[in-house]
Amino acid sequence: MVNTHVQIGELTLKNPVIAASGTFGFGREMQQWNNLSQIGGISSKGLTLNPRLGNDPTRVAETASGMLNSVGLQNPGLQAFIEHELPFMLGLGTTVIANIAGHSLEENVQMAMQLDQTAVHAIELNLSCPNVNKGCMAFGSSAHLIQEVVRAVRQSTTKPLWVKLTPNVTAISEMALAAESAGADAVCLINTLLGMAIDRRSRRPVLRNNTGGLSGPAVKPVALRMVWDVAKSVSIPVIGMGGIMTGEDALEFMIAGATAVQVGTANLVKPTACQDIINEMIMIATAEKITSFSQYTGTLKTW
Ligand SMILES: Cc1cc2nc3c(=O)[nH]c(=O)nc-3n(C[C@H](O)[C@H](O)[C@H](O)COP(=O)(O)O)c2cc1C
Repeated sequence: MVNTHVQIGELTLKNPVIAASGTFGFGREMQQWNNLSQIGGISSKGLTLNPRLGNDPTRVAETASGMLNSVGLQNPGLQAFIEHELPFMLGLGTTVIANIAGHSLEENVQMAMQLDQTAVHAIELNLSCPNVNKGCMAFGSSAHLIQEVVRAVRQSTTKPLWVKLTPNVTAISEMALAAESAGADAVCLINTLLGMAIDRRSRRPVLRNNTGGLSGPAVKPVALRMVWDVAKSVSIPVIGMGGIMTGEDALEFMIAGATAVQVGTANLVKPTACQDIINEMIMIATAEKITSFSQYTGTLKTW
């Protein structure tokens, strides 16, 4: 028997596989294919204080080994989430993480204060969305701004606070250190890499937003390197993601230093991806006579 539990600060996850924000909605649609009590956690679609319709279509495009999206934070707004989606999510028997993406420091603080009054298990502060004009990635590209916003949110809630980082920076470990020093309980990486697709005939960008975020297997090597870099720099847990499609991929992220992982694009290819990945991890660990998933974390033998 493998002990599948992992510890993220004060929070114990039943296993290290979390459904990544924006690829699992609030779990409602995914329920028909999964027993959601068996996955490690669900990170909600990115929330803003007020409802957002998101960007105009076309909002997704397939690429070699991945996809581009510019959804633009379509969501029902924090109040509707708290009233209608959160009670449903809390009934699923898994860890529920509210992913927030305020367009200003004040909006993030206000959302954290409201979520503090709920039974949500953790807040994931998204400082990395590439598809909106204000806030988000603008915060996540400056260590100084990360520190400012994380400190302010930290003071507004006693909930576990995870900070989601953008890969669209030169030195992601500096950003992770800024989040840690301001009181983050964990850092999550990577969000999508800024990219573009062009239709040669019309000479127009495929996405109406012109650019979008690249995800899926195409980004995995970049994500692995960043998780490895960050895990060497910070003492708080690292939650790794980017192109995880299999149990083998998930374990590679843990070996690079991640305590837990998130699975995004894979859910859009195969709605049972999270569950399948957990089962594969258990099979591999059993074959390797590993007794606890946590034994994989940070065990990379570099040359
Ligand atoms: C369609 C789509 C929507 C996304 N929406 C969000 C979001 O609202 N908030 C967020 O933090 N990340 C969002 N992401 C990023 C994912 O959570 C994840 O960080 C990224 O896709 C890398 O993981 P993957 O390669 O497994 O998809 C979105 C990704 C996709 C593909």
